Amino acid sequence: MKFFIDTANLSHIKEAHDLGILDGVTTNPSLMAKEGIKGEENILKHYADICALVDGDVSAEVLSTDFESMVAEGKILAAIHKNIVVKVPMIKDGIKAIKWFTDHGIRTNCTLVFSAGQAILAAKAGAAYVSPFIGRIDDSSWDGIALIEQISHIFSIQGFDTEILAASIRNPLHIVRSAEAGAHICTCPLDSIMGLLKHPLTDIGLAKFLEDAKKM
Ligand code: E4P
Repeated sequence: MKFFIDTANLSHIKEAHDLGILDGVTTNPSLMAKEGIKGEENILKHYADICALVDGDVSAEVLSTDFESMVAEGKILAAIHKNIVVKVPMIKDGIKAIKWFTDHGIRTNCTLVFSAGQAILAAKAGAAYVSPFIGRIDDSSWDGIALIEQISHIFSIQGFDTEILAASIRNPLHIVRSAEAGAHICTCPLDSIMGLLKHPLTDIGLAKFLEDAKKM
């Protein structure tokens, strides 16, 4: 399973990259706003800065919701760097735009996916990635991991090559369960990735080894 980091924060991206396990980055308008990135020129520069840090796919989201504007925006985003994947919302014009991008050699990530039906439509349109938001599904007392399992089953029996990108990860267990459920990629905040490191028996065991090493 690949690891993407879900942030527009350059120091978080660098920290995950320095671990040596980072395969890509996802952003969204909320994450860009959180970093105070404003105005077209700054937005495009920020995506270029992320691409310079990480040698892997970087999802950049369109801000418009009609077909023509999404295509125009996506062309500009895709021209920033070869690793840019245009992130498109799961709406009717979004599906049309994903098909257009697919036909023109531009890779897409279909975002805001909350059902297997939506995932099938995105795959049919040729999305490179489909992003089920498992944390937000759990928040509404549905089962986000069950959706990953369902999409994984459907894509495998139908032979879709769209990759399942488990998004809206809230904790390390979401990462482990997404891996079990067949997600190809997890996009996670830095603290969820770092949370995978933690186990009290590791800390206790290391303290003992270091203590005993003094007797060697
Ligand atoms: C996915 O690409 C989104 O950016 C993200 O995972 C949404 O997560 P949230 O539900 O924590 O906002």
